[in-house]
Amino acid sequence: MAMLAGAYLWIVAAHVIFVIFWMAGLFMLPRYLVYHQEALAAGRADEAALWVERETKLRSIILTPAMIAVWVLGLLLATVGQHWGAGWLHAKLVFVLLLSGYHGWAVGYAKRLAKGVMRLDGRTLRMLNEVPALVATAIVVLVFVKPF
Ligand code: HEM
Repeated sequence: MAMLAGAYLWIVAAHVIFVIFWMAGLFMLPRYLVYHQEALAAGRADEAALWVERETKLRSIILTPAMIAVWVLGLLLATVGQHWGAGWLHAKLVFVLLLSGYHGWAVGYAKRLAKGVMRLDGRTLRMLNEVPALVATAIVVLVFVKPF
């Protein structure tokens, strides 16, 4: 690990690049779900099929690889930078777990929509769109301000 200390800033840069990709995907997928569900509810089967294709591509090309990279690089930073004892990191991990859980929920919802199952009403789905922005705000404050 000591030999990686000189590369610390490069690892931070890579971590932030993949954070941007992951967040971009987490902002896009829930919006797709709203449009997908509206198409399904209105009986526009062709359009719904297009959303299934878009969601699958977004998931496999951006969302899942970016989430894995963020986790691997984040855990590496915590180890190389010896941050494991820090309160801000523990709090950040709680929020990152929340974001990962949200990721899993959105992917699961997309898979259910692909089978024609609509569990939530449009309003709830739209409100849930705001979750990634709120959680990301908390994470960025914790990382930069390090209040504890
Ligand atoms: C997956 C688990 C994660 C772990 C273990 C982790 C850990 C870390 C660590 C140890 C640092 C270095 C902090 C420093 O040197 O002061 C860091 C930097 C950073 N992380 Fe994460 N992180 C994770 C996920 C995330 C997520 C999901 C976001 C945003 C939504 C994020 C945003 C950032 C930012 C913006 C920085 C740069 C801060 C700086 O300039 O030093 N991280 N992360």
